[in-house]
Amino acid sequence: MKNPRYLISLGILSMSLFSFSAQAVERGQLMADTCLACHGGTNSEAMIPNLSQYPSSMIISQMKAFRDGSRPATVMTRHAKGYSDEEVALIAKYLGVQGQ
Ligand code: HEC
Repeated sequence: MKNPRYLISLGILSMSLFSFSAQAVERGQLMADTCLACHGGTNSEAMIPNLSQYPSSMIISQMKAFRDGSRPATVMTRHAKGYSDEEVALIAKYLGVQGQ
């Protein structure tokens, strides 16, 4: 990918608002990939829910509950502590169903 035209248009894009949101989605996706290591599967034996049908708002509220300890958990309390509110919002936007 050493095409200079590609790099120039990428530079122009990065100055626009559109690119700002595109980068935000990309960042959310990168972080969400970590979650999908456990949550992305269809393996019901694992009993870890697939988050793709969850409303984004629910992912956010549950991550906050894990983080502040109001919802007890095995691993999620530790995961939730690693992300800021902004990061949780990006992850939820990528993983969940919006507008619910
Ligand atoms: C190591 C495996 C693992 C990873 C990685 C992981 N989770 Fe979880 N998640 C679990 C388990 C296990 C539970 C059940 C609660 C518990 O025991 O911690 C859970 C529960 C949840 C729930 C609640 C589901 C429900 O039905 O109420 C949400 C929301 C969630 N995780 C979001 C995330 C997000 C967002 C990430 C990435 C930042 C993530 N998880 C990463 C294992 C994981």
